[in-house]
Amino acid sequence: MTYDNDKRRRLLSRLGRGLAGSVPILALAAGGVSLVNDEAPPEAREGAWFLSSAHAEGGAEGGAEAQAEAEAEAEAEGEAEGEAEGEGEAEGEAEGEAASAAAVRRPEGYAPAYSESGANPTELLARGEALYNDTSLSGNGLACASCHGSDGNDIGYQDTFEQPFPHRVAMAEAQFGMPEVHADEMVQICMVAPMEAEPLAWDSEELTSLAAYMVEVQRRFVGKPHDL
Ligand code: HEC
Repeated sequence: MTYDNDKRRRLLSRLGRGLAGSVPILALAAGGVSLVNDEAPPEAREGAWFLSSAHAEGGAEGGAEAQAEAEAEAEAEGEAEGEAEGEGEAEGEAEGEAASAAAVRRPEGYAPAYSESGANPTELLARGEALYNDTSLSGNGLACASCHGSDGNDIGYQDTFEQPFPHRVAMAEAQFGMPEVHADEMVQICMVAPMEAEPLAWDSEELTSLAAYMVEVQRRFVGKPHDL
């Protein structure tokens, strides 16, 4: 490829017009110079020298400024985009939280099929215990027992667990804005938060069994007579 004089002239005349050239053209010219210097044959390099000296006279500073401006603009755009993305995420999180808070709260018209104050049938407790140890309930390979222990080794509960349901639980309040929770709501909260799964159906035997089991674990936790 021979060095194109016409092209060079056109380029120089654009540079000669100094800052009248648009930012992308100046940036392109600056990029072109280094490309020619590194890779072009000697006669082209002469041209390049000429081009860069003209550039120096005509508007090297302008070019540098323009490039700096272009970079600053690009950065500003980048930041704006970053901010917009950040906002989008924040909104998404807020929506997600509101949605899951609704999903873990007892729905209207719901009547629990377990007792929070009295004894629950032994079959319900046995089923609850099995589910409590079942890793397939979660989306992350955990079982309730992974965090809360098993066989009477009750761990991962705070002192609030000693109070009868409904009561305040720090996680429910902090993550879901619920000032107090029933046993079934707490099961749903641990399903969607630490277990990373969908909440259980409100009328499911899984939810009823787990909630009944939690009531009994609570009795054990505070040293009351229990059926476990
Ligand atoms: C990754 C660990 C983890 C897993 C798995 C987990 N939980 Fe929890 N659980 C917690 C944490 C953390 C708390 C909150 C303690 C607090 O804020 O008082 C909690 C609290 C509870 C409470 C409330 C205790 C109280 O004070 O009333 C119950 C009930 C409960 N979990 C049941 C379950 C059940 C049922 C499952 C399985 C479906 C489960 N958890 C799975 C970590 C876990």
